[in-house]
Amino acid sequence: MSTRVVIGAQWGDEGKGKIVDLLSAEADFVVRFQGGANAGHTLKFDDKKVVLHLIPSGIFNGDADCVIGNGVVIDPVALVEEIKGVKEMGFSLEGRFFISQTAHVILPYHKLLDQLKEKRRGGDAIGTTGRGIGPAYVSKVSRIGIRMIDLLDRESLRTKIDQNLKDINFALENLYEEPQLSTDDLMAELDNAIQTLEPFICNTTNLLHEGIRDDRSILLEGAQGTMLDVDHGTYPYVTSSSPTSGGACIGSGIPPTALDKVMGITKAYCTRVGNGPFPTELLGETGDELRKKGAEFGATTGRPRRCGWLDLVALKYVVQINGMNELTLTKMDVMDGFEEIKVCTSYKINGKETKVFPLSLDEVEKIEPVYTTLPGWKNSIEGVTDWNKLPSTAQSYIRFVEDYLNVKFTIISTGPKRNETIRL
Ligand code: GDP
Ligand code: IMO
Ligand code: MG
Repeated sequence: MSTRVVIGAQWGDEGKGKIVDLLSAEADFVVRFQGGANAGHTLKFDDKKVVLHLIPSGIFNGDADCVIGNGVVIDPVALVEEIKGVKEMGFSLEGRFFISQTAHVILPYHKLLDQLKEKRRGGDAIGTTGRGIGPAYVSKVSRIGIRMIDLLDRESLRTKIDQNLKDINFALENLYEEPQLSTDDLMAELDNAIQTLEPFICNTTNLLHEGIRDDRSILLEGAQGTMLDVDHGTYPYVTSSSPTSGGACIGSGIPPTALDKVMGITKAYCTRVGNGPFPTELLGETGDELRKKGAEFGATTGRPRRCGWLDLVALKYVVQINGMNELTLTKMDVMDGFEEIKVCTSYKINGKETKVFPLSLDEVEKIEPVYTTLPGWKNSIEGVTDWNKLPSTAQSYIRFVEDYLNVKFTIISTGPKRNETIRL
């Protein structure tokens, strides 16, 4: 039995949902540990397509228990909608879905502030998903956050919301010139959601520690990606949580000494949605081709994703930050038909060549990627499940990336469906 963390190795949308769904057949617990409904994890199986935002991607495969850990920020109304959708598909959550008592709550004012702050930033906007993520984590670290357990005591919940609204209404009136919010309206909006969620709220830290004690296998599902990490990503163009293996411990209560495997997921190319530096971005025809072939439109917001060649300098940095000891390569089929495929193997910054990812935004913005060109392949590899059926140039592409990173791929994904996968 093992504890394995699955981490986005780029700027999100690497295909974490597909891979977690696949691996959950072998897991006893699947745990989300950070982020919120900014995530959009797409699963495809039995001709069904589902996008999950908060519920762990293990809910449809096997009988793993699904846990929303303490590090997640939860929009109760969005979660209730998602629970409804899962139930309508004929899957049950009773007895196998658990929400941490200490996860923080996203309230309507967090979403409103997220959107108003973005508007105020104008041309410097981060391009957030508008789901209230940043303001909810601000409330958490300012120690004025409301946690899931607080939802269960209505009287004290009302007092806390009342208290918070004093500052928020002041800002709404004086900074944003927006109408005031009322405690009554917020309480009414929460009421139905609380009734649905109450039976699932519990001490998930203890639940997971019992799992570790009993040698159960635990799969931790990252949201976003390491390049969006608030500490290690392209700050300030990042999300407000830690989508790294370190964040997995903080956001679940599982200690670092209990982690066995850290799996990074990368596409065969790169995408980014929202603003901020993207060294290998392709603004012309090739970028459009990747977007079209890869259907690169946001699972949460529908925005077109920016596309570019694989960036091995960034990926090497991500492998280091997370201690990744295995990798998954997704969307390999999207590379079908390219005469040549480029991979970025070093950067030029101010005329100097380097293989170290720079940490200042100023330097990141000056990166000129240096590419190695590899031969492509003509035949379609869509849905291939056997390594030996891959064209030799596709195999060489994979080996080249492994050699550069000094980590092996254990899964190659050749299509969006659960079974369109090569296990190595
Ligand atoms: P996540 O946020 O990391 O879970 O990724 P998203 O679901 O936002 O985006 C990944 C997209 O790629 C989804 O539409 C998946 O269905 C799709 N996908 C995943 N793996 C593959 C693959 O190997 N090939 C293709 N063509 N699509 C894939
Ligand atoms: P999954 O889990 C891709 C991006 C937003 C924006 C920045 C900050 O599906 O991979 P936020 O709303 O978090 O404050 O926005 O982060 N972003 C994502 N990009 N995939 C995601 O999640 C993302 N979640 C947030 O586009 O640039
Ligand atoms: Mg996504």
